[in-house]
Amino acid sequence: MGSTKEYINASYDRYDRWEDLPEDYLLLLEKAKEVSVTAYARYSDFQVGSALKLDNGQIVSGTNQENAAYPSGLCAERVALFAAHSTYPDSKVQSIAVFARHQGEALESLVAPCGSCRQVMAEYESLAKEPLTIILADGDGAVVIEGTQTLLPFGFQFPENN
Ligand code: THU
Repeated sequence: MGSTKEYINASYDRYDRWEDLPEDYLLLLEKAKEVSVTAYARYSDFQVGSALKLDNGQIVSGTNQENAAYPSGLCAERVALFAAHSTYPDSKVQSIAVFARHQGEALESLVAPCGSCRQVMAEYESLAKEPLTIILADGDGAVVIEGTQTLLPFGFQFPENN
């Protein structure tokens, strides 16, 4: 045979209730929820909050910022990640939480980051040289993913970044 079947393994932890989350992750998700009300999302009415923790102990948050020229807007996750890395260029991102509302009401289903945000997460994870923990709200529960590999298999990186 000229080919072999290879498999991508992915696992994650599901928590039925936020209260079951490890305290650090719960705090981050609560912060993401808190800031989501300040999203500037007048076109989609979909408000997203994100909060991340750095290895220097700082918590940095972001919300989605939209624009009349639609593609000029930016997702909450990238607002938080770019703010963190521009303010603390030498710090490593350890974990990031995401929470979303639609028309102001908390989303009852899983909020999963878009492909571009996964790509940006992967880059900062690679700089940190430690798996990035991603905490996603899922109604009353949450999903915790260790490492961007699960969300973005075969992601692009410059070879010298490996
Ligand atoms: N959005 C985020 O901020 N994060 C996500 O994970 C998904 C989508 C934003 C982009 C846009 O402002 C709005 O939600 C609707 O797509």
